[in-house]
Amino acid sequence: MEIKTIGVIGAGTMGSGIAQVAAEAGFKVIMRDLEEQFVQRGLAAVERNMDRAVEKGKKSQTEAAALLERISGTTRLEDLGEADFVIEAIIENMAIKKELYAKLDAICKEGAVLASNTSGLSITEMASATGRPQRVVGMHFFNPVPVMKLVEVIRGFDTADEIFELTMALSREMGKEPIAVNEAPLFAVNRILVPMINEAAFVLMEGVASAEDIDRGMMLGANHPIGPLALADLVGLDVLLAVMETLHGETGDSKYRPCPLMRKLVRAGHYGRKTGRGFYTYG
Ligand code: 3HC
Repeated sequence: MEIKTIGVIGAGTMGSGIAQVAAEAGFKVIMRDLEEQFVQRGLAAVERNMDRAVEKGKKSQTEAAALLERISGTTRLEDLGEADFVIEAIIENMAIKKELYAKLDAICKEGAVLASNTSGLSITEMASATGRPQRVVGMHFFNPVPVMKLVEVIRGFDTADEIFELTMALSREMGKEPIAVNEAPLFAVNRILVPMINEAAFVLMEGVASAEDIDRGMMLGANHPIGPLALADLVGLDVLLAVMETLHGETGDSKYRPCPLMRKLVRAGHYGRKTGRGFYTYG
């Protein structure tokens, strides 16, 4: 199956990053979000990255302009009818995702593949909202998408081998290194990473060490490039809490209970870098 046009649903941090790496690989990209202002914000994020790449001499002006031209923004879901491969990166809410998948199933070409960038929700359940569960797969990128090399490719209950392999190959074409994962709550990497971040929040809440020392400790003692609390602020505490709740809810295992401090920060609207405050305060 030949892929020419990639649809991206959601122009947020992940969606705009995915649109960028898809366009970088030469694909035509249609990026869709609910409101024009969200679409424009996503396009502006790619433009900023292109400006930086030109400043650093990593891309010529012409290359950057050509890449931006390959991405079109829209608020109309119908425009995805043209796409061969759609990557969904919307809010982590199963009911909303299923509603979207049912609509996409009606709009998209018969052979089109529907891939979800979910952080850990069930691919099988999303696929059940469509009449093409064999062509639904997980394609989980990491934040910041243009920098992080990994894509987890997740096999849902009915995902066809051919579609799984196609997604592995597409990830490589997009400059990433895929790993193969069978569906399970939070897949492989977040299942390990997010409880570690949650534990760091407990260590802070219990007064064992300061945020700065926890992060310095993990950077100096475990060679992590960034500490767990700084990483939490980068990913977004709202996202992490939702992910942790999925793991807790799906397994029923109390060892995965979300840290109350994380919940409190989310309730206060302190989601991390994107709101200017999380475990740290940003200028
Ligand atoms: N978009 C594009 N490029 C970016 C970027 C962004 N948002 N943020 C940083 N970069 C680029 C910089 O331009 C720079 O490029 P260069 O090497 O060409 O100059 C390079 O990345 C390094 O950036 P900096 O020197 O500014 O900063 P750092 O050295 O601190 O690196 C980092 C930034 C790569 C984000 C590093 O802090 C890191 O590796 N952090 C860990 C990230 C991580 O663990 N992500 C996984 C999160 S979990 C997840 O996504 C799963 C989800 O489901 C929850």
